[in-house]
Amino acid sequence: MVKILYSMPLKRNFSMINVKRFHHVAYRCIDAKVTVDWYKEHLNMELTVAIAENEVPSTKAPDPYMHIFLDAGMGNVLAFFEIPNSPDMGRDENTPKWVQHIALEVENLDALINAKAELQNKGIDVLGPINHGVFKSLYFFDPNGHRLELAANTGTTDQMVELKRVAPLMVEEWAQTKVAPTHAAWLHEKD
Ligand SMILES: [Fe+2]
Repeated sequence: MVKILYSMPLKRNFSMINVKRFHHVAYRCIDAKVTVDWYKEHLNMELTVAIAENEVPSTKAPDPYMHIFLDAGMGNVLAFFEIPNSPDMGRDENTPKWVQHIALEVENLDALINAKAELQNKGIDVLGPINHGVFKSLYFFDPNGHRLELAANTGTTDQMVELKRVAPLMVEEWAQTKVAPTHAAWLHEKD
C-alpha cells in the first residue's frame, strides 16, 4: 500500500500552480558580511536586499538576525541568515558532504574553464571539471562550509528530451529496487 501511494504523484498532473523560478533559497551563514564579500569577490554576485530584526516578531524574544539576498542571475536569489545567538553551525553528519550543494550555471564550457582558473588564482580549492554527460561541473566550498557547484550545460536538445522521457521510468524502477537503473547509462560512457 505504501509503495502505491508513493508512486502516485508521478502519474498525476493535477496542479495548476505555475512556478516561475526560485524566489529565493535560504541557508545559514556564519557571518553575513564575510559571506556578502566572499560571493562578490569570487562569484560576482551582488547583494540586493538585507532584512534584519533584533527580536522574533511573534514572541518579541531578543534574537537578532541578518537575512541577506544575493543575485544569482535571471531572477534567482540565494539568501542567507546570520543568527549569532544560536549555537554554532553544524551539518547533517549522516549525509556525505557531496550530497547537499548549491549549483550555479555559467554560460558555457569556456566560462567554466575560466572560472576554475580565476577561483584557483584566488586560493580556492576547486575540483573538476567533472563530466556528467550533459553538463560539466566544478566543485568548491564557500566560507560557511556549503558546497558550491558551477555547471556548464553541454547536452543536446535530443539528449535532454531523452532524459526527460526516461526519468519517470528510472524513478519508478529505483523505488522498487534501490539499484541504479540503466536507462541513461550513456551519460557515463565518456567518463
Ligand atoms: Fe549537482
